[in-house]
Amino acid sequence: MLKGKTVLLGVTGSIAAYKTASLASMLVKKGVKVHVLMTKNAAHFINPITFESLTGNKCLVDTFDRNFEFSVEHVALAKQADVVMIAPASANVIGKIAHGIADDMLTTTVMACRCKKILAPAMNTNMYENPILQDNLDICRRYGMEVITPAWGYLACGDTGAGKMPEPEVLYEYILREAGYPGDLAGRRILVTAGPTRESIDPVRYITNHSTGKMGYAIARVAAYRGADVTLVSGPVDLPRPLFVETVLVESAREMFEAVTARSGEQDIIVKAAAVADYRPATVGTEKIKKSDGDLSIALERTDDILGWLGQNRRDGQFLCGFSMETQNMLENSRAKLAKKHIDMIVANNLKVEGAGFGTDTNVVTLITRDSETELPIMAKEEVADCLLTEILKRTKA
Ligand code: CTP
Repeated sequence: MLKGKTVLLGVTGSIAAYKTASLASMLVKKGVKVHVLMTKNAAHFINPITFESLTGNKCLVDTFDRNFEFSVEHVALAKQADVVMIAPASANVIGKIAHGIADDMLTTTVMACRCKKILAPAMNTNMYENPILQDNLDICRRYGMEVITPAWGYLACGDTGAGKMPEPEVLYEYILREAGYPGDLAGRRILVTAGPTRESIDPVRYITNHSTGKMGYAIARVAAYRGADVTLVSGPVDLPRPLFVETVLVESAREMFEAVTARSGEQDIIVKAAAVADYRPATVGTEKIKKSDGDLSIALERTDDILGWLGQNRRDGQFLCGFSMETQNMLENSRAKLAKKHIDMIVANNLKVEGAGFGTDTNVVTLITRDSETELPIMAKEEVADCLLTEILKRTKA
């Protein structure tokens, strides 16, 4: 998604500068053209040669350096940029940018850039909390810049508090959202469900399934990258909470039903990727069930069909998309679910097909609507999510 894009990384004088080297490397591996601009103070923390080796481009430190192609016209570099990220952004540089001071290569180039500027402040907690710095950040926001909230933790000065630069993986996601995807879902509210549910038998045991949540999390992430206002209702999974997404954690089908139906009225689009249990134990033991010599049967009762409920109670113009995992008669069974649940699209996959199903990073799906069937080739779950959202967008445009 970022391949061929140009990213300018501005590095200022902070110990966190070493993390920006990992970020530059990550971007280069994705085919991004990375240009690094450093303040003179940054060069005390990390050698420009590190960035030059990683990016293959001259690391620009000073406007009066005559020895490189952009020396006379720094504006040329500004014009090529798809996004600028200043990481770490010191209090000094934030102050200069907020007030239009352009007195070195970094601040001059930032001033000449029309693209989005993202600041990742990194400094001592007292400096970060200083109202002057906070005012300057507000000014930057007012001019359309994005400010990444620093992480909380142990700082190089020995204090513990806010001011740590987030990890390169987090910074990468901000760049990906800005330059890797169109903002074509801006203004849409999307609710996604993901993962399995857990139905308790007693305080020790539960019934669940093999869902890992990867597909639903990918949809939530990509929808947010594309600008949607995303709520993710997730069953128990072993995945980090996605950035830019409001995540609601639930356990059982009942809890998922409540979390989804409480929010469904506000949603433009609902994608139900969760593998919700169809049955739960009819009674839940309050104490651990002790074994006996004989066999044990557990009576199960049906859970609420959340998607079925949504099909019956949908808001005007709301788009509903379900998932259907089958091991046989995939198309027939999925078409039947589409009709029975009164939904607009169903994403069908066959667990027995190589590259599809639970836990994999890829999926092989067919998108079924009342009047179309689109078979997609094997793809990364992020790509499936992207195609799915494009198809939904086509069908929800006025
Ligand atoms: N679903 C739901 N609530 C349930 C069960 C399923 O919302 N209690 C949703 C899933 O999130 C998914 C779709 O319905 O989007 C799957 O449909 P379903 O008929 O439950 O599929 P299966 O359970 O696979 O059907 P069957 O057991 O009949 O094969």
